[in-house]
Parts: sequence; structure tokens; C-alpha cells
Amino acid sequence: MGTRQRVNANQIGVPNMMKTEVSPGPVSRETDHGTEREEAEFQWRNVVRRRSFLKGLGLASLAVPATALVPTSAFSLTTEETQGAANKGKLTRGDTAILRFLAAVELIESDLWVQYNELGGIKGGNPSYIAALSNLDGDMPQYISDNTDDELSHAAFLNAYLKSRGAEPVDLDRFRTLPSSKAKGARQLGRLTNLLKLDVDLSWYTRYRSEENPDLGAVFNGPFTISGEPGIPLNDTDTPPNTPQPVPPTTAHSRRMQAIANTAGFHFAYIEQGGASLYASLTTKATDLEVLRIIVSIGGVEVDHFGLWHDKAGNAVAQPLAGVKDPKTGLTFPDLNSRANELTQTNLILPEPCDFLAGENLPPCSVIRPSSTNFGGAVATINSFTQDLLFLGQSQEFFEFVTQLAIAADAAHREI
Ligand SMILES: [Fe+2]
Repeated sequence: MGTRQRVNANQIGVPNMMKTEVSPGPVSRETDHGTEREEAEFQWRNVVRRRSFLKGLGLASLAVPATALVPTSAFSLTTEETQGAANKGKLTRGDTAILRFLAAVELIESDLWVQYNELGGIKGGNPSYIAALSNLDGDMPQYISDNTDDELSHAAFLNAYLKSRGAEPVDLDRFRTLPSSKAKGARQLGRLTNLLKLDVDLSWYTRYRSEENPDLGAVFNGPFTISGEPGIPLNDTDTPPNTPQPVPPTTAHSRRMQAIANTAGFHFAYIEQGGASLYASLTTKATDLEVLRIIVSIGGVEVDHFGLWHDKAGNAVAQPLAGVKDPKTGLTFPDLNSRANELTQTNLILPEPCDFLAGENLPPCSVIRPSSTNFGGAVATINSFTQDLLFLGQSQEFFEFVTQLAIAADAAHREI
């Protein structure tokens, strides 16, 4: 478990994308050795001197100006990478459906991460919740803030991209009707998602330790059950915001708060593994290469998030924290290392090679699983989030709208 408290741009204003605004831009700065531009030119000239290399590329006689800091034809970007959006024409109906559903999912993800960030992020407002999360890892508040930034950027990018290609962006604001937590730190405004009572599917924990694949019929149970448990503090009576959070917790209030924080830890991993499967499932449906690039590039970040949270959640069910019991709900976080079982061992967080494609003589492969439309696709994702109780209290109109988007995305197909 790390205990560092890093300080960076994310501490200056989350979740409002300040990370980008305060980062040093690609400007030329004076250094001890001249400007960065001069340094880059020097490096480029070194490359030019490697004539055998250039000759191999048929470029030996190419005159390279000293200011040539952009890639030449030998390293040039493809047409898809350089075309302006205006020159690319309209998206196919399938690509539009994929991106619109992903925009909706990213808005949903953003909504839940903003709630976690308000209470438990690096500038979060609930000290006891932050302390309980930090018992999983000292960097939890930083990771929560960064994950929040990432989801906000995904949603904003996808909607902006849709507009740039002449397609309609997705707006879920009319569905921001669910209540906020009443605990210290939570803003009082309407939410898309409900974190106050979660049924967290833990089957991913066993699935990624198994050699079997749900796409090929395998069914998994989680190592224990999280049912009807909040992912964020409900109010300051239930969990006083300045309660100390020793490890292990010693009072009813501290046990309750630790159980809530542990639930959040597992919920983070659940959400992001869902994102990993969703993006994988949509890759084979894209037509436009740039849309494919977007799906793969954002999907990779969902995978990165999942790997991180998988590691942190394990600390709730390993010593010295394992054994916490919520005095209100009875939920217990067992010691998963006491079973001498590879399907529960907490440090086995990297995906076990498993069955992948149906076919004879294909060896096991370490992959995202599921990646099929049936089990990891858009409708499957909404169904899973619904069973998670993430949408508890949402209107019929909301379900109809997101289901319509999901069905259209799953129905997309590569048009080449
Ligand atoms: Fe995302």
C-alpha cells in the first residue's frame, strides 16, 4: 500500500478539467543549452547524418531544412490522422450510434465519479470518508480525482467529436433528478446516478482470475456479496464526518464508514471493467478508421482504470483491513487470502490467460473478457448498471432513452 500524497495540477480545482489548463503547454522555453527548438534541431540533424538509415528509406538525397521539426513523409501521419473533421464527411449511421451511446455512458460515468470526487477526492469535503478510502491506499483521493477528470474529458470529447462530424451530441441533463448525499462535502444538486444503495456485481473479481471466458459460456460468482450498501456516506448522523478511521476500525461509526469506503473501492473496479468490455465489444462495429481510433484509445484508459481499482479493492479484503463488518447492513469484507484459492487471492490482479476465440487448438490468451455484444455490449452494460442499482429512482423516459441508444449501438456493423 502506498502512502504518498502527490501534489499536481489536479489539486487545483477538480472536477473541472483544470489538469489541462494548468499543464505547461508545448511552448519553447529557454534552457541552459539554448531553446528547446534548437535542441530539437540538433537532434534532427543527428538523424539526418545517419545516411544509411535514410538511404534505406529512399531519402538519402532529401534536403532537410534546419527548421524541419514536423515529420517528413517517412514518418508522416496517415490521411485519417491529418484530415480536418470538415473534410471527412458524415459519419455512418452505425458510427454515430456507437459514439452517441459512448457519450451517454461517459456522461453517466462522469456523474458518478463527480459524486465520489466531491466527498473523497483530493479536494473532497468529507474527512472521515477520505480517511477510510486512504486505508485502501494513501493515493486513493488523487486517483479518484484523476479518474473523474478522465471521464469528464471522455464525455466532452465524444460530444464535441459528434458535433464536428455533423451528428447530434447527447444531452442527459433532463435526467439529473436523483438526490445527492446529505453528508458533509456533497453538493446539493440533481444526479443521473444513485450511489446511496448499491448491489455491486463482483463476478469480475473471479472472472479475471479464471481460465474461462463468459463469451464462451462460463458463469462466475463473486467471492462475496455487496448488496444494498452505499458507495458514499449518506448523512452526518449515519457517519459523522470527523470520525477517526483507524485500521482496523474500532467503533460502530468507523466500521460503517469503512464498509462504505470498501464498497466504493469495489464499485470503482466494477464500473471500469464494464467500460473495458464495452469499448472492446464496439471495436469491430466501427467503419471510420478515426472512430475506431477513438474507441481503442479511450477504451485503453478504461482498462487502465480497471487495473488500478482492481489492485486497490483487494486491500479491503486483505490484512490488516480485512474483516470489517457494517453494523447497519451486516455486510462483511472477508479475508480473501485466507482461502488458499487462486480465484480469490488478492494480489492476482493481472488477467489470467483464458479461453478467447472459439476454435480448435487455440491456446489461452490474456484478454479483456467479455468482449462479445451479448455479454459486454451496450445493452448488456445498461442492464448491468441497472442491476447495480445505479439508476435507482430514474424515470421510465430515462430507461427508454438509454436503451434506445444501446440497441442502436449494438446493431452497428462495419460497413466495408
Ligand atoms: Fe470513460
